[in-house]
Amino acid sequence: MELLRFSAFWCGAILFGSIQLEEAEAYIMRLPRLCKFCDIRATSCTGKGSCKVECEITSICPNNEDVCVSIWRRKDDNFTFDTVCHNRSQKLYGLVLEDYNNSKCEMKERKGMGSEFFICSCSEDECNEHIFFNSNMDSQVVAVILVSLVPLLVMAVVVITSFYCFRVYRQRQARSRRKRGLPMDFSDAHAIMIDDEGSDSSSTHANNLNHNTELLPIELDVLVGKGRFAEVYKAKLKQGSSVSEEQGFETVAIKIFQYEEYASWKNEKEIFSDADLRHDNVLHFLTAEERKVQRQFWLITAYHPRGNLQEFLIHHIVDWPDLWLLGSSLALGVAHLHSDHSPGGRYKVPIAHRDIKSSNILVKSDLTCCLCDFGLALRLDNALSVDELANSGQVGTARYMAPEVLESRINLENIESFKQADVYSMALVLWEIISRCNAIGEVKEYEPPFGNLREHPCVESMKDSVLRDRGRPEIPDSWINHPGIQMVCASIDECWDHDPEARLTAQCVAERFDDMEYLDKLSDRSDSEEKIPEEILMVDEK
Ligand SMILES: *[C@@H]1O[C@H](CO)[C@@H](O)[C@H](O)[C@H]1NC(C)=O
Ligand SMILES: *[C@@H]1O[C@H](CO)[C@@H](O)[C@H](O)[C@H]1NC(C)=O
Ligand SMILES: *[C@@H]1O[C@H](CO)[C@@H](O)[C@H](O)[C@H]1NC(C)=O
Repeated sequence: MELLRFSAFWCGAILFGSIQLEEAEAYIMRLPRLCKFCDIRATSCTGKGSCKVECEITSICPNNEDVCVSIWRRKDDNFTFDTVCHNRSQKLYGLVLEDYNNSKCEMKERKGMGSEFFICSCSEDECNEHIFFNSNMDSQVVAVILVSLVPLLVMAVVVITSFYCFRVYRQRQARSRRKRGLPMDFSDAHAIMIDDEGSDSSSTHANNLNHNTELLPIELDVLVGKGRFAEVYKAKLKQGSSVSEEQGFETVAIKIFQYEEYASWKNEKEIFSDADLRHDNVLHFLTAEERKVQRQFWLITAYHPRGNLQEFLIHHIVDWPDLWLLGSSLALGVAHLHSDHSPGGRYKVPIAHRDIKSSNILVKSDLTCCLCDFGLALRLDNALSVDELANSGQVGTARYMAPEVLESRINLENIESFKQADVYSMALVLWEIISRCNAIGEVKEYEPPFGNLREHPCVESMKDSVLRDRGRPEIPDSWINHPGIQMVCASIDECWDHDPEARLTAQCVAERFDDMEYLDKLSDRSDSEEKIPEEILMVDEK
C-alpha cells in the first residue's frame, strides 16, 4: 500500500513537475486517499465493539475530495459492509457525511434506512478498514439509564430518610415517655416492635434473637434478684430444647420486664444481640422473648449461682489470689466492652456500661467476674449525635457516679468520656474487693464505697462528698504492706482521678493485673510463711 501511495505521489510529481515546493506540499495535502473499496460484502461483524472489514482491495480514490466510507447493515441475520471512496461534499444514500475529518472510522447509527444502518467516514489512508462501534451508543445508553435511574434513586433516598426520621421520632417519644414515667400503652409498644422486626432481619448481628414464634420451654424457679426495671429468676430450660442442646444450659437466668419497661428491655436486648459482645467476663446471653400472654419481655441468660459481687463480698472474705482473679477479670470485661475491636481484630462498636457497681457484676464459679445489667448501656457508634447523647442525660447509680457525671458536665463530644466514667466506677468496685481481702490485715464488715452515706445517697449528697470535698474511699496505710495490694491501690488512685482524662483505661488496668501475676504465685508461698519475703518488697519499690 505504501508502494501505491508512493507511486501515486510520483505520478503527481511527474505530471506537475514544474510546480514550486510550497505548492507541492499543499498538493500532497490533497493527495487522493487510499481507501478500502469492496462495495457490498457479507461480514461476520455483529455491529458491536470494533471490527475489521473483510476487504482485500485498497484503491486510490478517483478524486482529491474523496474520503473513505464504511457502511454496516443488518438485514435479518445477514450482516454486510459497504466500503467505498466518496466525494465528501456529496450525499451518500441521501446522507450528508458529517465525520469525514476524523482519522478513525467511528460508526453512527442512522434511522429510517429500512434496516439497521451504521455509517462512518474518515480521511486517513485505509481508515475505513478498522471500524469502531458503540462508543457513542454506549454513552447514549448510559445517559438513558442515568436519566431513568436518577428519579428512582432520589425517591429511594427520600423514602429511606423519612422512614429513619420516623423511627428516631418514635424512639425519642418512647424515651421521653420513659423519663416522665408514663406507662407505654400496648399499641405503642406493639408498633415499635413491628418496627424492630424490620430492622432485625436486616442486621447481621441479630443472630441471638429468638425469631421463632415458638417460645422456649422454660420453668421459672425462684426470684434471685430485683433490679431497677426488672426481676431476675432462676429457671429451668426443659430437656430437649434446641438451645440447651446446642449451648449446654439447663439452668438459666430469666430477666423479666413488665410491658411498661419495654424501652429498657429493648436497649439491653440490642446491646446483647451484638455478637461481638461475647466475652468470658460478660454475662452470656441466650435469647430475648416477648411473652404476650404474661404481658412481659424476657431476657434469657446464663445463670451463676454465686450471685452478684456485692452479695459475695458481704458473705465472703477473699485472699490475694481471689482478689487477683476478681479484679483482673473485671478489668478485662470492662476493657472488652470499651474496646473498638474484637479479639480477632475486626471493628466492634465500643460500649459504655454506665452503671458499673458491685451489684451489677456476677461472680462465676471459678471466681472470675462477669458484667451484667446493660439496661443503661450505650453503644458508642459514630452514628450517635451529640443531641442523642445529651438526651441520655445523667444516668447510673449516684454512689458510683464519676464527678463529671454528678455535675452533668460529661464531654458528650468525646466517646472516651463515657469510658472514663466507667473506669471511675470500676475503681470503686476494686476498692470494695480489697476491703474484703485478708491480705490487708484486719478485715471489717462489708461496706459499700462512701459507706458513711445512707443507703441510697442522692446526687446532691454525692456531689458534696465527691466534688466539694474531693472525697474518695479511704485506703489505710496498713493495706499497702502487701506488694500486690499496693500496686492495685496505685491503679485505683489513678482510676478515680478527678480529671477524667488522667484516668487509666480499663485495658491498662487489665495489663497491670497481668504484670502482677507473678505475685500471685509468690504470695502463695508467703501465705504459708506468714510473711512477705523481702525481695518482693524490693522489686516492688523499684
Ligand atoms: C465533489 O462534489 C462537489 C459538490 O457537489 C463538486 O463541486 C465537485 O466537483 C465534486 N468533485 C469531483 C471531483 O467530482
Ligand atoms: C442472507 O445470505 C444468504 C447467503 O449469504 C442468502 O441466501 C440469503 O438470501 C440472505 N438473506 C437475506 C434476507 O438477505
Ligand atoms: C472539516 O475540516 C475542514 C477544514 O478544517 C472544515 O472546513 C470543514 O467544515 C470540516 N468539516 C466537518 C464536517 O467538520
